[in-house]
Amino acid sequence: MATESMTAAELREGLEGVRRRAADGLAAAGDERIVEALRTRLLGRSGELTGLLRQLGGIDAGERPALGALANEVRETVEAGIGERLAVLRAGGLEERLASERIDMTSPGRPVRVGHLHPLMTVERQLREIFHGYGFEVFEGPEIEDDWWNFEALNIPPDHPARDLWDTLYVAEPGSWERGAPRPAADGTILRTHTSPAQIRAMQAITPPIRVLTPGRCFRYEAVDASHNFEFFQVEGLVVDRDTSLADLKGMLEEFARALYGEGTKTRFRPGYYPFTEPSVAFDIGCLVCGGSGCAACGRSGWMTILGAGMIHPVVLRNGGIDPDEYQGYAFGMGLDRITLLRYGIADLRLLMGADLRFLAHFSEGR
Ligand code: PHE
Repeated sequence: MATESMTAAELREGLEGVRRRAADGLAAAGDERIVEALRTRLLGRSGELTGLLRQLGGIDAGERPALGALANEVRETVEAGIGERLAVLRAGGLEERLASERIDMTSPGRPVRVGHLHPLMTVERQLREIFHGYGFEVFEGPEIEDDWWNFEALNIPPDHPARDLWDTLYVAEPGSWERGAPRPAADGTILRTHTSPAQIRAMQAITPPIRVLTPGRCFRYEAVDASHNFEFFQVEGLVVDRDTSLADLKGMLEEFARALYGEGTKTRFRPGYYPFTEPSVAFDIGCLVCGGSGCAACGRSGWMTILGAGMIHPVVLRNGGIDPDEYQGYAFGMGLDRITLLRYGIADLRLLMGADLRFLAHFSEGR
């Protein structure tokens, strides 16, 4: 067709043919891809209309303007038709999507799972709350201490069993672990074995009177079983004032036991020993399981020990920068893990640190 020159009539017929094929093709086109293919076939650079326009030069000069105008008109008609068809197809696609992706605003939502505090933290917050009522503020010390803060400052002599390698987690001398011969760091860096070093830090930081609670995580080299862990929590209290006495300590702890375990809670003090308190006491409550008659939980004694306490040793006061001739004070420390087990009647300490949500989800009271 391109090789032979056309007459004016043939060219007119060809142009009208493009218009017809466009109309038929568009009416039948079911998706955008078909429309685009039609556009290329009719209007593209090597498409039908372009081929016909090349014939225009061979047409009589008198006929040419009319045929040129017709060619333009056909192009415009076809382009307009393509635009309309595409718009219709796109709108159709949108309607389909709207129908299939419809959201039912009245259907109930999926519940959002809200977390809660770990039972240890629930009880710790309770303790903070109780002592807050007696004017204690929270003072936290670091979990990584050194020999001086953890032992020496607390009047714990170098031969005290707590310093044994088998009780304390020593941080290795840099490089010694890599060399396959780990040994304790020369600077005495350790993981604190109790919260008591925070006593010294509080005394150095605060001018008496002091009333602080120093809760926190502690570490000991322990074989893990139902009642021991290498990682545990303590809550410690410290009071320093001009005439603080053992009677104040006694009253404070009795109040505390009743606030935590109820008005009828029985309490008793026994002599104890700690290098950093003098005198030292152990504080017991009537067994929460048997009420005092004696059972397996209390070793048939009717009593459960929940904390250790005592009057701050003068050496410790001095290490805290406080003059023992002017001030006295008391300190007490309790194991949060044990108090939590007793509180909820949990038999095995390992459950607390097991990160098993099936277990922990039972303790959702703490938000
Ligand atoms: N630090 C002691 C312990 O770890 C507890 C304690 C604290 C005792 C304060 C007396 C005074 O067992």
